[in-house]
Amino acid sequence: MKPEIVMVGPMMPHVVAALDQDFQIHRLWEAPDAGALLGKAAAARGIATTGDLGADAALMDALPKLEIVACYGVGVDAIDLTHAAKRGVTVTNTPDVLTDDVANLAVGLMLDVTRGISAADRFVRRGDWLKGPMPLSRSLVGWRVGILGLGRIGLAIARRAEALGCTICYHGRRRREDLSYPYYEDLAAMARDCRLLVVSCPGGQGTRHLVNAEVLAALGPEGVLINIARGSVVDEPALVSALEAGTLGGAGLDVFEAEPRVPEALFAMENVVLQPHLGSATVETRHAMGDLVVENLRAHFNGKPAPTPVK
Ligand code: 8YV
Repeated sequence: MKPEIVMVGPMMPHVVAALDQDFQIHRLWEAPDAGALLGKAAAARGIATTGDLGADAALMDALPKLEIVACYGVGVDAIDLTHAAKRGVTVTNTPDVLTDDVANLAVGLMLDVTRGISAADRFVRRGDWLKGPMPLSRSLVGWRVGILGLGRIGLAIARRAEALGCTICYHGRRRREDLSYPYYEDLAAMARDCRLLVVSCPGGQGTRHLVNAEVLAALGPEGVLINIARGSVVDEPALVSALEAGTLGGAGLDVFEAEPRVPEALFAMENVVLQPHLGSATVETRHAMGDLVVENLRAHFNGKPAPTPVK
């Protein structure tokens, strides 16, 4: 008998096909009545979920035989890790395979906000070029970039930003002894010394609203905020107010507090670039993430350690 798993959200077809070979899948996102599906899935020993949908305590407790939650994403803030630990449930995620693409999108946002690539595209399409040249944009060269969360993705962004001519500093829970970038214990102090702040730390209660009105004010009217991490890290109403008041210069945002809802006040702002949470959303990376979900589940159910557990 194949082990049963509950799939919380959709993944690429090859992932579903690979899982289908080894597991009996209960497709929660397709079920008209989630409660009824979970009733039928009571023997399930695994959950395959996405970063945004996660797995809360109620979902885990609907599955008394649960052993593993495999997340299609690196961020596990939507998974109740405390509850999983209490239940002895292994949680896995998909680190490394998405680092380059998420970092590339961050750099794309940095360039777009400062050089106005999307705004210039709209300018041409509107026919405004026929009326005169586009106003000058800003050069990123020489900017001091502060990284909030110098983990795998933060470091990949730092390296790319250096290649663009920026200098780097960072804030996080602790100083990294293996790197020589200047470390700030205080985020607002770093924001005061930076022109651009990149949010690349994990989401969840521990980082909620770390980027608050004080930090945004410290970045200042020429400052830029880039967020490719989680919307929860930024106080979104404070961000909207700062942009409306012109006390923050611009923003590039891939993530929001209540996705897929985005504050409408941002829609008309030419100094803001908006993305629908696309950091890892390339065919290649989603393929690799899916493969890792399958590998984690297969290893676990073959009695081997899962390759990428969340520690
Ligand atoms: C995905 C992500 O949006 O890895 C993460 O933490 O936010 C993304 O890769 C998501 O997990 C895919 O559903």
